[in-house]
Amino acid sequence: MNAVITAVGGYVPAAILDNKTICEKVETSELWIEKRTGIKERRIADENTATSDLASAAIENLFEHYDVDRNEIEALIIATATPDHILAPTASKVCEKNGLTNAFGLDINAACSGFLYALELASSMIESGRYEKIIVAGADKMSSIVDYENRDTCILFGDGAGAVLLEKTQSDYGIMKSILRTDGGGTSSLFVPAGGSKMPATMQSIVHRSHFIKQEGPYVFKKAVSSMSKVSKDVLIKNELDTEDIDWVIPHQANLRIIKTVSENLNIDINKVKVNIERYGNTTSATIPLCLWDFKDDFKKGQYLLITTFGAGFSWGALCLKWGTMRKKRHRSQVHQSRKLSYEAVLQQM
Ligand code: COA
Repeated sequence: MNAVITAVGGYVPAAILDNKTICEKVETSELWIEKRTGIKERRIADENTATSDLASAAIENLFEHYDVDRNEIEALIIATATPDHILAPTASKVCEKNGLTNAFGLDINAACSGFLYALELASSMIESGRYEKIIVAGADKMSSIVDYENRDTCILFGDGAGAVLLEKTQSDYGIMKSILRTDGGGTSSLFVPAGGSKMPATMQSIVHRSHFIKQEGPYVFKKAVSSMSKVSKDVLIKNELDTEDIDWVIPHQANLRIIKTVSENLNIDINKVKVNIERYGNTTSATIPLCLWDFKDDFKKGQYLLITTFGAGFSWGALCLKWGTMRKKRHRSQVHQSRKLSYEAVLQQM
């Protein structure tokens, strides 16, 4: 029994925050941001949009484009680091919004590795024989935890969501073996200090801006490169594949320089590596499903994909899959709406 991806959906908010606009408020330059990160713009959700809305829109996009009966969905796993609330689960709201009345829903938080971890959980559930159809989504409203006065982090992140349908198959297509890793020693190198049980919200935590992301950028960069390179090499061995067998690499989109260095370390042609960071920035749990959504038409039946990620925790991993047959399409068009956002508008939303 295997689990195969048969439908993909995605959603990014219409509002664009570009590098030029960021330069109006923090000491940086368009050239520096693009050269050091590869990012040109990111999408930002408005103050009335929560992570559940992003996830729900991505899942609705999946239902609009593929012939899937929502009543047959048995489980919804949402990877997110920015849940609507600490209590109750974001997935509950999404089940309600998308009419998944025969499913149970749960959130998992493994930061930028969340989607990959969720894919592993869902495929294991299907391989066990107990489930046949599970939706796995990655969604984050990173603008809700980004400090737009801190140039170290505000250049990096954006909002978005992606979702896939995983289904049972008797064929050898679908999710293959993975390697997933966690090292709690990295927690304080990339985290939001306040708002959880360790430091509940106080007036002081707000004054100290402790509800925003803190990151040791260069250290995280080095760990991301070494961890993603090693785990990718190891997962190829585990799946008895060579680098030449890999048709496409889907890396977590945190920094174009990380992506390029990992592809060099793996000796994989950069043209085989899918990149959309220039348009969305780092959308945390959503980068990988957004890549699958953006580039799905390039993937052909029988091709091998290597997915790899690294994020807060530290958490990281890699997984191979053999692309299978997608469900029948309902529409072919994919509408991307956009409008430019002023920095004042971003700050007002905080
Ligand atoms: N604009 C202009 N200059 C900046 C800047 C900005 N936005 N941010 C930092 N700088 C400056 C620094 O002050 C430093 O100046 P100095 O040499 O005079 O001290 C110089 O640029 C280099 O800083 P550094 O932090 O070493 O830059 P970097 O090349 O490592 O790039 C990041 C910074 C954050 C882009 C990079 O470290 C990164 O992408 N890290 C990983 C992020 C990541 O993957 N996070 C999520 C994991 S899921």
